[in-house]
Amino acid sequence: MNIRIAIQKSGRLNEDSLGILKDCGISIDNGKDQLKASSRNFPMEVFYLRNGDIPQYLRDGVVDIAIIGENVLIEKGEDIGIAEKLGFSKCKVSLAVPKSVKYKSVKDFEGKRIATSYPNTVKNYLDKMGVSADLHIINGSVEIAPNIGLADAICDIVSSGSTLFKNNLKEVEVMLKSEAVLAVSPKISEERKTILDQLQFRIQSVLRARQ
Ligand code: PRP
Ligand code: MG
Repeated sequence: MNIRIAIQKSGRLNEDSLGILKDCGISIDNGKDQLKASSRNFPMEVFYLRNGDIPQYLRDGVVDIAIIGENVLIEKGEDIGIAEKLGFSKCKVSLAVPKSVKYKSVKDFEGKRIATSYPNTVKNYLDKMGVSADLHIINGSVEIAPNIGLADAICDIVSSGSTLFKNNLKEVEVMLKSEAVLAVSPKISEERKTILDQLQFRIQSVLRARQ
């Protein structure tokens, strides 16, 4: 019996996710371009998936656990439980506007076009503020949208802030703060939960050592 873990296929989380498994003493046989791998010394199979697909895999019980950004769960997997916050890949999900815009308050977004890959997060936030905007969903390079006239504002992940800076945008509202988490499928079996307990035990000592 193996525990099936999803991690990001490529991108900023991928390396840190493999890093924490390594620090847990779990070595993964990693054939290049392979979407599935297994461990030699821990009962684990690794699936390399697209971030946005991971909540559905967890929901369906096709994977048992995942290392994923909390922001992705908030957007697409509010029903999925978090076993552990992992302390890396910290970021914000923020609203930004062109630098030249004189911004006063969140009410300024009323009727505006916002480009984002996080439509649910934006909608929930603006609904709470009593603001209604026009959301344009795009999957990447969101920060270019105001420059090409596609939108008045954007909502995306901010980490170092350099993508905003390079695109002449400024952060005006921080909607949430996020970090990598260990997420658990609601369908995980009792047997696999035992493996999860062993994994969590190791993760907790790694996190303590990192402090
Ligand atoms: C991510 C995110 C932001 C940027 C934030 O994009 O969508 O654009 O990183 O990081 P920063 O504040 O350190 O610049 P990524 O480069 O992963 O590409 P994508 O949007 O095309 O997926
Ligand atoms: Mg981006």
